[in-house]
Amino acid sequence: MRKLFKGKVLLFMMMSLMLLLAACSSSGTGGNTDNSDTSSGDSKSSDKLVIGFSQVGAESEWRTANTKSMQDAIKAAGHELKFSDAQQKQENQIKAIRSFIAQKVDAIVFSPVVETGFETVLQEAKDAGIPVFLSDRAVDIEDDSLWVTFLGSDFVEEGRKAANWLVEETADVEGDVNIVELQGTVGSAPAIDRKEGFEEVIADHPNLKITKSQTGDFTRAKGKEVMEAFLKSDGDNIDVLYAHNDDMAIGAIQAIEEYGLKPGEDIKIIGVDAVKGAFEAMAAGKMNVTVECNPLFGPQMVDLIEAHLAGETIEKRVAVEESMYTMDQAEELLPTREY
Ligand code: AHR
Repeated sequence: MRKLFKGKVLLFMMMSLMLLLAACSSSGTGGNTDNSDTSSGDSKSSDKLVIGFSQVGAESEWRTANTKSMQDAIKAAGHELKFSDAQQKQENQIKAIRSFIAQKVDAIVFSPVVETGFETVLQEAKDAGIPVFLSDRAVDIEDDSLWVTFLGSDFVEEGRKAANWLVEETADVEGDVNIVELQGTVGSAPAIDRKEGFEEVIADHPNLKITKSQTGDFTRAKGKEVMEAFLKSDGDNIDVLYAHNDDMAIGAIQAIEEYGLKPGEDIKIIGVDAVKGAFEAMAAGKMNVTVECNPLFGPQMVDLIEAHLAGETIEKRVAVEESMYTMDQAEELLPTREY
């Protein structure tokens, strides 16, 4: 009996020792269980991180390029990615963020479908000590301690650039210039801001008039469908199409051709994003201008996450640098376009 007891004690001690050794050897890579405070961060930049990324969807060429940039950068840095595609639905994003919190990821990258309605879930992330990085789109929430930083484009400026091009292009036109507008997803930051920037500039030019405006949800199919409706009701009175992204512009170009008009000539086409498809359309003379919205900021996002978790202070707003391209530059630049 005593012998048996001694044996049990020995076995218990050996097992405890093994457990202790296993715990020590895993602590170097187990950053995902060590939640950092969203405001200060801690020192784990050299660790392998687990990053949850809640993406908007796969609605456009732009989005596909952005997803790839983020996936490649996270992989190249040796971190682990947990990816979720929200299919343009806010409820899917809320579920994804909750699941990242439950999995105790080290950081959440979040590209919000719409601007509002995320307070509760972002508060849950903060309470769990998981820093949230806004990617591409901002949120309209008063408490800005709910996220670390917002990395993305200046959408208002993109709208201004689009309108400034049109102001120059129509400088000699006497009389009204009728513009139809294809808006992005209702309630999304780029749709709200691109509209605001564009309207701000044309407000000083009363002959530039938006005669019709509707959402095309940032997709080619919807862009085509809405443009068909615009043409049906007002076909001979449309001078310009302002599309909040290139995919909708490309869909609309098809509708214009099917209607029997020449896109780029009969109707001037302005897009946003500067995706390859837009360059192809411009090289073919069917689209006039695209304002760049650069999706290739995956490496910049990884740097920001690592810097924050290493305890560095980072800016609350980090902008992506962008340009604008016209029809006459398309052929030369098309082979160099990365997305
Ligand atoms: O948020 C960026 C926008 O979302 C892009 O301009 C558009 O193409 C995408 O779907």
